[in-house]
Amino acid sequence: MKPDTTERKVIIEQHKRFSQSALWRLQREYFDKEGINAWVNQVPFYITSNPFIAYAYAQITLNFMRDWIKKNPDAKNHPFYIMELGTGSGRFSYYFVKSLLETMKQHQIDDIKFCYVMSDFTKHNIKYWETHPALKPYIESGIIDFALYDMEAERPISLIRQNIRLSPEVLVNPLTIFANYIFDTISHDAFTVHEGKLFELLFSLSTDEKNMQNNRPVEMEKISVDYNVHEIKSAYYGDPHLDSILENYKQKLHSTSFLFPMGSLHAIKFLKKLSNDKLFIISTDKGYGTLESLDNLGHPAISWHGSFSMMVNFHAIGEYFKNSGGDAVLQTPRRGIRTSVFASGFKLNDLINTAAEIEERVERLSPSDYFTLHSRVRDNFESYDLETLAAHLEFAGWDPHIYLKISPRITSLIAESDVETLQFMAKNMPRLAANYYFMPKTECILFEIGVFFHAIKNFGEALKYYKQAIEFVGEQFGLFYNMALCQHHLELNEDALETFKRALKLDPESKETAEWITFVEKALAGGGESKEDSISSDTKDEESKK
Ligand SMILES: C[S@@+](CC[C@H](N)C(=O)[O-])C[C@H]1O[C@@H](n2cnc3c(N)ncnc32)[C@H](O)[C@@H]1O
Repeated sequence: MKPDTTERKVIIEQHKRFSQSALWRLQREYFDKEGINAWVNQVPFYITSNPFIAYAYAQITLNFMRDWIKKNPDAKNHPFYIMELGTGSGRFSYYFVKSLLETMKQHQIDDIKFCYVMSDFTKHNIKYWETHPALKPYIESGIIDFALYDMEAERPISLIRQNIRLSPEVLVNPLTIFANYIFDTISHDAFTVHEGKLFELLFSLSTDEKNMQNNRPVEMEKISVDYNVHEIKSAYYGDPHLDSILENYKQKLHSTSFLFPMGSLHAIKFLKKLSNDKLFIISTDKGYGTLESLDNLGHPAISWHGSFSMMVNFHAIGEYFKNSGGDAVLQTPRRGIRTSVFASGFKLNDLINTAAEIEERVERLSPSDYFTLHSRVRDNFESYDLETLAAHLEFAGWDPHIYLKISPRITSLIAESDVETLQFMAKNMPRLAANYYFMPKTECILFEIGVFFHAIKNFGEALKYYKQAIEFVGEQFGLFYNMALCQHHLELNEDALETFKRALKLDPESKETAEWITFVEKALAGGGESKEDSISSDTKDEESKK
């Protein structure tokens, strides 16, 4: 008799309104359990956490604050609170604050007070930010604060360091909100329209028995989803602003399924209340922005990547703001992410510079177009010369994430590159270093900058960056070996000897390190032997090490 290989299915839940599905609980458990490790090769982040997008947000925000103060002169006596939702790693926050301060300095603006609030629902992320070396100066000067905020709950939001509770009294100026890759992560409802009728989509989840442990699924990816429909005949939400959107979809869409971002709208309603109905939101996420793009779709697709995400119905969010007296600017369609700006309590066109900057940063020089172009370069960098790679780095704002991917290619091109390009690169290395945002299990940009200067034979700069890298990479053979080579070239032979010895301790098998020690010892003793005589032919190569 053949063994029964059919896997038994376990039903997790049946016929649930989507926003009440167990999937959202599992999603939260995932982020809570993983903390910062979620971004180590699991959850995608680069697209919304790079210097380019942060610069765009900084330009829009600065213009917004200036326009607001121009119209409301008393505003400059109160801080602008800028709160990031579902902040995650904090990399975006760092680039944003840095960019905003740099732009304010450039424009000699010192009369605007702001406080940047990094928020997330899990305290594990806050713990990571609290001790992060890049954030430290901003935390100490009170520019950055933290808040535990769960967008699906209506709990008071308190700033952890200043011990201030955000309230209509505290929020004198509009509350600025950044929501990147978060509206796609929190709960949605789901609907179907067919032949002029509106149906609620109900979700049933099941999985193989093998994927269950302690009564819960182990891997979310292995959950199967089935759907049932239930016709809706009366106002679904009991909120005229929301029900009118559904009614419009029922009338205008032909045959489709769509999501309704209820978790996000829930948070927006709460934040509106908290801020005297004065909200300014910038959000970048994947999603739909027009009525036409919502038509003729199949049942909503789930993308799995450690956590999961779904397309955001930005059109519904925009309609909600417009229905309730606010405003919305949605980027014209793009295949990947898109940026949207929403306002509550005022119209964006009444803020002239803000409106112009939104046009510039959301449409003309958008984070989504940047990412599309960047991806093409990233996928083909092996075929580009140094001039092109340097131009890309400049365009990207000297982003360590990019440099780390192309560092070996850059080093290999140095010998054949022109002097202007090398000078251009060298001049911008401090900008690259200043953009370092440490993440676990990621290579250290300071070390790579050391390798660059080492390769162009600027040993003084190379040594400086190698030394800075120790704090992040710890005591590593390659780092000490390279430092020792630089010290030797700088005629700091006593230091070089000491450092070669430290390198040898870390790799006692290293023949070339032992030979360097002999050579440097002889040099220090005044020995006339040349390095070539002292070091065996196969280890004469002075290439820096990884
Ligand atoms: C996909 S990540 C996005 C992180 C970051 N904004 C970015 O663009 O890379 C989602 C983040 O939202 C947080 N999150 C999930 N559910 C949340 C909720 N209900 N309220 C607030 N944050 C939540 C997670 O902890 C995680 O940091």
